[in-house]
Amino acid sequence: MKIGCVKEIKNNEFRVGLTPDNVKAYVAAGHHVYMEKGAGVGSGFTDNEYIDAGASLIDNAADIWALVDMMVKVKEPLPEEYPLFREGLILYTYLHLAADKEQTDALLNGKVKAVAYETIQEKDGSLPCLAPMSQIAGRLSIQEGAKYLEKKFGGEGILLAGVPGTPKANVVILGGGTVGMNACKIAVGMGANVTILDVNLKRLEELDNRFGSHIQTLVSNDSNVERAVKDADLVIGSVLIPGGSTPKLFKRKYLPEMKSGAVFVDVAIDQGGCGESSRVTTHDDPIFVEDGVVHYCVGNMPGSVPRTSTIALTNATLRYGLQIAASGLEEAVKANNAIALGVNCYDGKIVNKNVAAALDYEYVDLNGLI
Ligand SMILES: NC(=O)c1ccc[n+]([C@@H]2O[C@H](COP(=O)([O-])OP(=O)(O)OC[C@H]3O[C@@H](n4cnc5c(N)ncnc54)[C@H](O)[C@@H]3O)[C@@H](O)[C@H]2O)c1
Repeated sequence: MKIGCVKEIKNNEFRVGLTPDNVKAYVAAGHHVYMEKGAGVGSGFTDNEYIDAGASLIDNAADIWALVDMMVKVKEPLPEEYPLFREGLILYTYLHLAADKEQTDALLNGKVKAVAYETIQEKDGSLPCLAPMSQIAGRLSIQEGAKYLEKKFGGEGILLAGVPGTPKANVVILGGGTVGMNACKIAVGMGANVTILDVNLKRLEELDNRFGSHIQTLVSNDSNVERAVKDADLVIGSVLIPGGSTPKLFKRKYLPEMKSGAVFVDVAIDQGGCGESSRVTTHDDPIFVEDGVVHYCVGNMPGSVPRTSTIALTNATLRYGLQIAASGLEEAVKANNAIALGVNCYDGKIVNKNVAAALDYEYVDLNGLI
């Protein structure tokens, strides 16, 4: 199969769909890989590394779109890329179509076979191509929070670990899933006092078994959240209700009760956020202060560490990509239900139930089309 990978054109997006090691794996399996010149530079991979791995380098992204059987990307295509869609092209990338009617229409009109990383789902319910980004965002949330606690950013000027003779910072984590657990790991490692709240008692038990006396677990309800955030120096918002809107646990009325210069990192902002006072910010302008509390609400946190993010993402996406390339999408779908669940658009039809429901479009069973 001819595999293509172009440079991401979304603002501040430095990740790339294929690493040189991925190229080696595709080439070893008998495929040909076409990389756009400079596509990996933002993630620290040079053109020479791709050439050494066996890729052909091409100057112009449009030529790659026209040539390949499968395009491997990171982010959803932007409107300037829609005219490059064509019938039968396999597009393998994050798509997030439920909130993007314009892109969905373009994929349907172009009869693209669109496979979304975020809906590839294994039998145990896990989302293997989404989890690495939550791991990164969780770990990064403490790093960013620690930075914005510095006085020069409006923070209260407290060091997470303190030093002997001074108080440690109180870190409160709302939601103990993948993001919350990874935030917890770093906060504990940095020596902060950590409290983690979740509605899922089983999850709290797992966290308690894992971190023991290093953390305080609490069931998440209004009273516990209010008490915890009053004493917090750093609050992490990491709640998710799959398929539902994020509950606003972190209420605006808590802000005046909190320490001046406390920091709130709302990681869940990409799903609407769990703070009533949250609004989306960007890597260029990441924070704002409301009622003395510094808010950090960047929706694509992994983008600030593209080297780690690219490697982590492609560690997860490579094996499904290789399977699609080996047998073609149709056979891969029949052999692996995780890939079937990843297919969102096929032959001008929506074949993912949630996407169809969210956009109020007709859902068509993929099995009837292949
Ligand atoms: N900003 C970014 O760059 C970025 C990156 C990755 C993930 N995210 C977002 O982070 C959020 C968390 O993702 P995740 O992978 O950890 O999800 P997850 O499903 O692994 O964890 C969510 C947790 O929230 C808990 N929860 C649900 N309702 C709650 C409540 N009322 N109180 C407390 N806890 C509650 C769940 O029990 C679960 O343990 C999602 O919105 C995700 O989209 C953002």
